[in-house]
Amino acid sequence: MKRTHRATELDIENVGEVITLNGWINSRRDHGGLIFIDLRDRSGLIQVVFSPEVNQEAFHRAEQVRSEYVVAVEGKVCRRPQETENPNLKTGKIEIYVEKMEVFSAARTPPFYIEDGIDVDETLRLKYRYLDLRRPEMRDNLMLRHRVIKIMRDFLDKNGFLEIETPILTKSTPEGARDYLVPSRVHPGDFFALPQSPQIFKQLLMVAGMERYFQIARCFRDEDLRADRQPEFTQLDLEMSFIDEEDIFTLVEQLMQEIFAGGTCQQISIPFPRLSYDEAMEKYGSDKPDLRFGLEIQDITAIVKDVDFKVFSAAVEAGGVVRAINAKTCASFKRREIDDLGKMAVENGARGMAWIVVTENELKSPIAKFFSEEKMQELLTALSAQPGDLLLFAADQPDVVARVLGNLRLELGKRLKLIDEGQLNFVWVVDFPLLEYDAEEKRYVAVHHPFTSPRVEDFDLLDNSPGEVKARAYDLILNGTEIGGGSIRIHRRDWQEKMFSLLGLSQEEAEDKFGFLLEAFQYGTPPHGGIAFGIDRLLMIMAGRQSIRDVIAFPKTQSASCPMTEAPSGVSPRQLRELALKIREK
Ligand code: AMO
Ligand code: AMP
Repeated sequence: MKRTHRATELDIENVGEVITLNGWINSRRDHGGLIFIDLRDRSGLIQVVFSPEVNQEAFHRAEQVRSEYVVAVEGKVCRRPQETENPNLKTGKIEIYVEKMEVFSAARTPPFYIEDGIDVDETLRLKYRYLDLRRPEMRDNLMLRHRVIKIMRDFLDKNGFLEIETPILTKSTPEGARDYLVPSRVHPGDFFALPQSPQIFKQLLMVAGMERYFQIARCFRDEDLRADRQPEFTQLDLEMSFIDEEDIFTLVEQLMQEIFAGGTCQQISIPFPRLSYDEAMEKYGSDKPDLRFGLEIQDITAIVKDVDFKVFSAAVEAGGVVRAINAKTCASFKRREIDDLGKMAVENGARGMAWIVVTENELKSPIAKFFSEEKMQELLTALSAQPGDLLLFAADQPDVVARVLGNLRLELGKRLKLIDEGQLNFVWVVDFPLLEYDAEEKRYVAVHHPFTSPRVEDFDLLDNSPGEVKARAYDLILNGTEIGGGSIRIHRRDWQEKMFSLLGLSQEEAEDKFGFLLEAFQYGTPPHGGIAFGIDRLLMIMAGRQSIRDVIAFPKTQSASCPMTEAPSGVSPRQLRELALKIREK
């Protein structure tokens, strides 16, 4: 009994036809003389009806089937009586009177309901992911994923890109995380690394003259997981030769337009605004600012530097800054709420959080006493403070203040419901620093990755003030999530060597790790650059989900494991011997 139609292909035009459907029993209602089944296939639901008057045998079978049985039904499409139409169902105007039914397989009772919006522990969902994916919302996410990836492929094909695969078993391609290693049996004691991204290979493809490359690339990073991070995830990775930043921006903006138009029927306007890294950090306290709401951070260092309040003046003396957020209308916060915000500030590294409550008649604040009347007026004016406002302050080094106030800003944005969830807010963040100092490792590390080109006009700073050099790097931010990042690359051996040495790599280390790349650069390398998008993150936003796990068919848990297959798992002593490995401790 092969299907003639999918459930939702049927409509009132088909009334009178005898058709066959294959699918799962979504639900069954026994009304004594009649049995109603909602039959589900990938396309959706349709009601099928069993009556002893239509077919005795089919009716008896229908008495025995239960939810999630897989069946075939043959029957006639009928128009439902008007009062029984179901406007919530695409097929709600019709039903099938079944003349024949075959049961392909029975089913145990699933561990959770196969329906949207269930409140079930995610580990259970992941253990039975094949059931979880039967739920319409999860099916829709995978369908959206398919559609979006197809749009990407078609768009890039149309624009002259070649899709090229790069190796999974490879050498370390650093993006700042730990590598996943794979032991080699043939070369005992040696290891492959799974790629953190195809970065080096895509650059070699530019050396190879491919000019425009893309790949839907699986990347592997052993790092601490969060809602928007998985140990393996998928990038749309691309690279182009003979281009500059503007070419990348234009291409990506058009791509995003097509993705949203075709994926979720949303029109987005281009070009996207651009924000410098410095401005993003100062005003929003983050290099991935959520610009769907204001609540900007304001710098008041100049105003308070001479005030007789040690916390502020000492911070400024130590080269720090004092910044504030004016939380409009929050003067009504209870003392406990303000203390909670203070605790949050401390968790983010602050030594404290000063505040001022502005009311019609007075200022309530632990720090007001340190200010002269004129200074206070200057401060209130600078912060546009009005009765009803709550002013929050942080004084420290700029990076600490940014983190503290950036997170307070997001928290307040949520609490005050300032975020317009329907908005799609894209912004390019540009002019990143090339390097940042890692106090723990006592050396500079690349902010993007070691292959990113410095800005040409900053070359002279490389030797004496490497921390001030800006990179030709850019991130694309959507609603406060970094969905993509890339750069114009270094394409000369001497510059790349210089970069490695700034990162503290000896010549031998550079040769050992990246000798093949340095060598390739000597055989005629075009100027090139590219970008990679986190497809999972982009889809999470498009699907309106809170976690990228919901748009990945078989994701890992927060602890980087799979409850279904129970990977990772032990291996036999024999496998270990073959790989010349010994487990030291568990
Ligand atoms: P980057 O490291 O910024 O750049 O990665 C690009 C994008 O990939 C997504 N992403 C992740 N998604 C899910 N889980 C993760 N663990 C994860 N890590 C990153 C983010 C990010 O913006 N080779 C460079 C690109 C280039 O320079 O062309 C790279 O990988 O959305
Ligand atoms: P203190 O004089 O230490 O009692 O601090 C007075 C107020 O300043 C308190 O509300 C503290 O939370 C706040 N405070 C302390 N350190 C800082 C800081 N680094 N930045 C902002 N406020 C702070």
